Amino acid sequence: MNFAKRWVALVILAATTLFSAATFAQDYPTRIITLVVPFAAGGPSDVIARLLANSMSQTLGQQVIIENVVGAGGTVGAARVARAAPDGYTLLIHHLALTAAPSLYNNLTYDTRTAFEPVGLVNTGPMVLVGRKTLEAKTAQDLIAYFKAQGDKVTLAHAGVGSNAHLCAILLSQALGVKQVYVPYNGTGPAMNDLVTGQVDALCDQSTTAVPQIIGGNVKGYIVTSEQPLDVIKDVATARIAGVPSFDMAIWHGLYVPKDTPREVVLKLNAALGKALTEPLVLERFKAVGTTPFPKTEWSPQAHSKRFLAEIDRWGRLLKVAGVTPATAR
Ligand code: MLT
Repeated sequence: MNFAKRWVALVILAATTLFSAATFAQDYPTRIITLVVPFAAGGPSDVIARLLANSMSQTLGQQVIIENVVGAGGTVGAARVARAAPDGYTLLIHHLALTAAPSLYNNLTYDTRTAFEPVGLVNTGPMVLVGRKTLEAKTAQDLIAYFKAQGDKVTLAHAGVGSNAHLCAILLSQALGVKQVYVPYNGTGPAMNDLVTGQVDALCDQSTTAVPQIIGGNVKGYIVTSEQPLDVIKDVATARIAGVPSFDMAIWHGLYVPKDTPREVVLKLNAALGKALTEPLVLERFKAVGTTPFPKTEWSPQAHSKRFLAEIDRWGRLLKVAGVTPATAR
């Protein structure tokens, strides 16, 4: 084939490829979308994901189904999405643990900084330290005294190395100056079940799932890591009141797709997420468990990306200061 014919064939191929990519993004979505939750069902990430999935299914006109892909503090689920096709049909909901993982795992199969396309920020909220209801400690101060006296006889459940619950446990042990025994689970759903039946002493959980258990009398709420007490659990002391001011931590969830997902698809998902965060039912459920959506000014993928990259550095510094490395984190 001479040069001219080759050139024409190349131009037609390029035009066809561009046209089909544009059509693809325009028609998206045309089939079921999977939202990967990297922790077990029943935990806070799962609860938030199901709330979003219900709303986004309506907006997108295609079902958004939840797939719990558990293990290794949420990094197994993250890896599943990192290697998924960048076509908008595999989403990830994750939180600050995704940004702490590079400082806690030597064997990640993905580059945290580049493997994901941030779609948008979801919610932010405090952690709550809850104890088994048979603990004698009545107040936060009693619990602090008990934990300091018991040292490594105390068992703290968490959702895997690097999970919010694990990072929160590290901050607590550091604030108390004690070594405590950490008991890993595939999410705080199963961890909470063992706390309710008294198999472990305490758990640092997101307010999303801790609040209903406290209100239901299944566990005792001792310390909330927010600046102010939560309206829904007014009697639970803040870390400052409890006397451990450095025990403060706010979690946040974001939505992600694999890198190279078409921009138009990212923007469609971002718009559907934004709609979910204005829905009365979603806002009501968030309020009832002490978590809040990000302000509209932070809803863009760019704002999410800025926070995401900053958090990777922040948790790197925090964990280094705490002397927590992939070797010592277990
Ligand atoms: C965590 O990081 O502690 C998880 O979010 C808990 C969960 O969602 O199961």
